[in-house]
Amino acid sequence: MPEKVILAGPASEALAKSIAEKLGLPLLGAEFRVFSDGESKFTVLDKVEGRTIFFIQSVYQPVDQHLFQLLLAAHKLSQDGARVIAVTPYLSYARQDKEFLPGEAVTLGFVAHMMRSAGVARLVTVDIHSAEGLSLFSFPIYSVSAVPAMVEYAKKNLDLKDPVIISPDFGASKRTEAFAQLYGAQFLRLSKSRDRTTGEVVIKQEELQVKGKDVLFLDEVITTGGTIRAAAETVRKQGARNVHAICTHGVFVGDALQKLEKAGVKTVVCTNTIPGPLSKIDVSGALTSHLRTLEE
Ligand code: R5P
Repeated sequence: MPEKVILAGPASEALAKSIAEKLGLPLLGAEFRVFSDGESKFTVLDKVEGRTIFFIQSVYQPVDQHLFQLLLAAHKLSQDGARVIAVTPYLSYARQDKEFLPGEAVTLGFVAHMMRSAGVARLVTVDIHSAEGLSLFSFPIYSVSAVPAMVEYAKKNLDLKDPVIISPDFGASKRTEAFAQLYGAQFLRLSKSRDRTTGEVVIKQEELQVKGKDVLFLDEVITTGGTIRAAAETVRKQGARNVHAICTHGVFVGDALQKLEKAGVKTVVCTNTIPGPLSKIDVSGALTSHLRTLEE
């Protein structure tokens, strides 16, 4: 019986199969069910005692259901004597990493606490929102970078002329700068502020050297599309030629994609941390490389 095994969570079956193939590991026999009343059930079908389980389960919509499945299965497997390494490529709640307004719960801290209580020994995610978020975990957590895979995709698939790679806000700037360096293009950063109550995004209007250039925005997540829409409108007003956007996690709620199209964003692409038609950038290679480095 191989000591290491992959558990494909219902949120990440394709990614889990791809990681299992790359690592040459079998898939664990297990069953996840959601009953008609919304209750979840988990059953493990193989022996797990003494085994290390890479449990691949992103946490996207339905967020709390996917999170609960992760916690429930981790709890059962660790109770049965397995070492559970949660691979959660998209970790919802990562943006709730501090008390922005008085009285707000630091939800990511609570998620970290629940994972630990459930028996998760280590967490691997992709492009977590902030370094502060990492510090809320009292067990090992590692954020794998999707940047090299994004650069490779952009080089092969986006025909950028005189490109400028732009971070829509301060938070995304380190990642975006790393992208620009690897790509070999100019880097710029916008100043964004968001009304914490209404969610409205405002981009500081300043002169940018984008006239006649192809702009590529990079962000870790597109949710409502408000950030990239405001950023795209800003550079289009200043004469940018084509505007493209790449994000790690394509949440795209409601009319997010229509908003971006209306704002003149020509291409929107994301990674497969969340499956979907625009999830064209594969992070299984980056995750596999990290999992290979983990000690016994
Ligand atoms: C914020 O700091 C993040 O990096 C994203 O820019 C933001 O959360 C995207 O959300 P939305 O698409 O709703 O503007």
